[in-house]
Amino acid sequence: MTERVSPASGIHGVVNVPGDKSISHRYAMLASIAQGDSQIYNYSTGADCQSTLSCLEALGVAAEFSEQDGRRVLAVHGRGLHALQPPTRSLDAGNSGSTIRMLSGILAAQPFSTEIGGDDSLSKRPMRRIIAPLTQMGARIHARNDQFPPLTIHGSPLAAIDYPLPVASAQVKSCVLLAGLYANGETVVRESVATRDHTELALRELGADIDIQPRLARIRGGAQLTGKPLVVPGDLSSAAFFIVAALMLPNADITIANVGLNPTRTALLDLLRGMGAAIKLLHIEQVSGELIGTLQVRSSRIRGGTIEGATTAALIDEIPILAVLGAVSENGLTVRNAAELRVKETDRIETISQNLGRMRIAVNTSQDGFVIPGKQQFRAAEIQACGDHRIAMAFSIAALAADEPSFIQDAGSASVSFPEFYSTLRRLTQ
Ligand code: S3P
Repeated sequence: MTERVSPASGIHGVVNVPGDKSISHRYAMLASIAQGDSQIYNYSTGADCQSTLSCLEALGVAAEFSEQDGRRVLAVHGRGLHALQPPTRSLDAGNSGSTIRMLSGILAAQPFSTEIGGDDSLSKRPMRRIIAPLTQMGARIHARNDQFPPLTIHGSPLAAIDYPLPVASAQVKSCVLLAGLYANGETVVRESVATRDHTELALRELGADIDIQPRLARIRGGAQLTGKPLVVPGDLSSAAFFIVAALMLPNADITIANVGLNPTRTALLDLLRGMGAAIKLLHIEQVSGELIGTLQVRSSRIRGGTIEGATTAALIDEIPILAVLGAVSENGLTVRNAAELRVKETDRIETISQNLGRMRIAVNTSQDGFVIPGKQQFRAAEIQACGDHRIAMAFSIAALAADEPSFIQDAGSASVSFPEFYSTLRRLTQ
């Protein structure tokens, strides 16, 4: 699918973003192995979270959507910790790294074997990072070339481990904690750089025996989880595209309602405010252990700056759209310590720099980052999303600031996390 995006001078109105992708995966997985039913409100409409549901269904979990007072609710009928069923087919995680990596933690503890794989992009993503700790706990896992999907996971009784994370990855941390839920003893995961803590918060919310400390979580195996109503906040990583559009365009004022403001996700807002962004917090409350709030964003003069170290890990998903903002900022943007970008849905250092090049934006890449000079002007172009949802959306926002209409090839990939992206963009920019 090709999308035509015309230049716009402004953006106005209320943005409703889909439920947070990271949190939706976790709630669906945990509700499936809890006892009793859970009602999940605002479950992500993205294809990735649908992939998680179809994997869970293949493991015998019943789940269905309904409407309640105009709200979409997902009812998940929990099977308890020990009653998933052996699947009769290979599980398909689609494009979703979170699905394969986190679900593997649960599959490693089942008394059966499971094969799990996904699309071409997922089949190139590194899995040693989860195979190593799960093998240490006692699982047997076979991977293509010892590192890529599909994985065949031979579940076994697991033993607790004390695991310092060698990569800053919430997916790996979550995988180990989910396996720890089943392990004999106390599993400890240590981080040198803090990553999103949604798994820890959700485990505590559903009654796991978990102790959460800064950059450390301990979980005792064996405690049953209990299903309950859960509300998924809006996805701040999806909101980021509209936040940047509002900052960049000369005539903008948007409100983003019910968006997740978990402090392990808001490095984006801190960074933007530090660069001069007019972002106002209108409301904040805690729901299902997560912070949810309303933001107002207006046109701003953005100074630009450097993203490095722990900040890079904290806003890794927002780097494609920050690259777009960097090009029109006063002083440009430098990104360092971002080698993980090379193993996302695409090699994002490449797909960002190629598409910036198509729009006549200068950029210098390195192995683990890039430098984009400021005060540049986007030119209309044919963008190649390369099947990467965040590349499609980031360059659609860039197209708003171009001189003529641009064409986004493979724009349909936005539906991996945000199927309503283009209809929202059209509504707010008309
Ligand atoms: C995610 C963690 C991050 C992020 C991904 C979602 C999660 O990946 O890029 O989009 O839900 O835990 P890594 O854990 O590989 O850094």
